[in-house]
Amino acid sequence: MKVHNVEMIMSAVRPEQYPEEGYPEFALAGRSNVGKSSFINKMIGRKSLARTSSKPGKTQTLNFYKIEEQLFFVDVPGYGYAKVSKSSREAWGKFIQQYMTEREHLRAVIQIVDLRHPPTADDCTMYDFLVHYQIPTIVIATKADKIPRGKWEKHKKIVRETLEMRSEDPLLIFSSEKGIGVEEAWKEIESRM
Ligand code: GTP
Ligand code: MG
Repeated sequence: MKVHNVEMIMSAVRPEQYPEEGYPEFALAGRSNVGKSSFINKMIGRKSLARTSSKPGKTQTLNFYKIEEQLFFVDVPGYGYAKVSKSSREAWGKFIQQYMTEREHLRAVIQIVDLRHPPTADDCTMYDFLVHYQIPTIVIATKADKIPRGKWEKHKKIVRETLEMRSEDPLLIFSSEKGIGVEEAWKEIESRM
């Protein structure tokens, strides 16, 4: 998809604040600092519409990005960020879980992992949650620019095996830095709209 028109709708902390257009939604999930907001920016061709940071914990609310009056990307706070208190982590979990399990417009969760390293225990928990609730999932392994191309397949295999991925779930390579995998990711998303 060639993106010309993007509107950041709102930062939602309660379901009453979710947008009402009814467009298909694609929500990001992943560890803090893994590159979720950067993924959105690369996909829509904006350098920094979704705020990114080298420090984890940048995204704190559900942020809806309306794309071409056709779909929403939903930026989601990352998990596994040690510095937040236990109570706010629990609140996080509840809020995100509620969105992901109850939102009828949600077409798929895009789970972002780091291609460089095996998925963490938190990554596995997230993926298991998506499987448990039968939420369609696209796994994107990002930061591919940090790995030589000849090693991508080996790292992909480790991601697939560590997450114990369902064979029907796609696993795509990506780099927000270099723009790798943008077309493939759009193809996957558009096939689910
Ligand atoms: P939270 O909002 O804290 O959950 O983080 P996030 O997952 O949204 O991460 P964000 O997009 O803010 O990126 C975190 C850091 O990783 C930033 O310093 C980005 O520049 C860097 N980064 C993201 N994607 C890539 C990539 O594909 N390659 C490289 N080399 N760096 C990346
Ligand atoms: Mg973010």
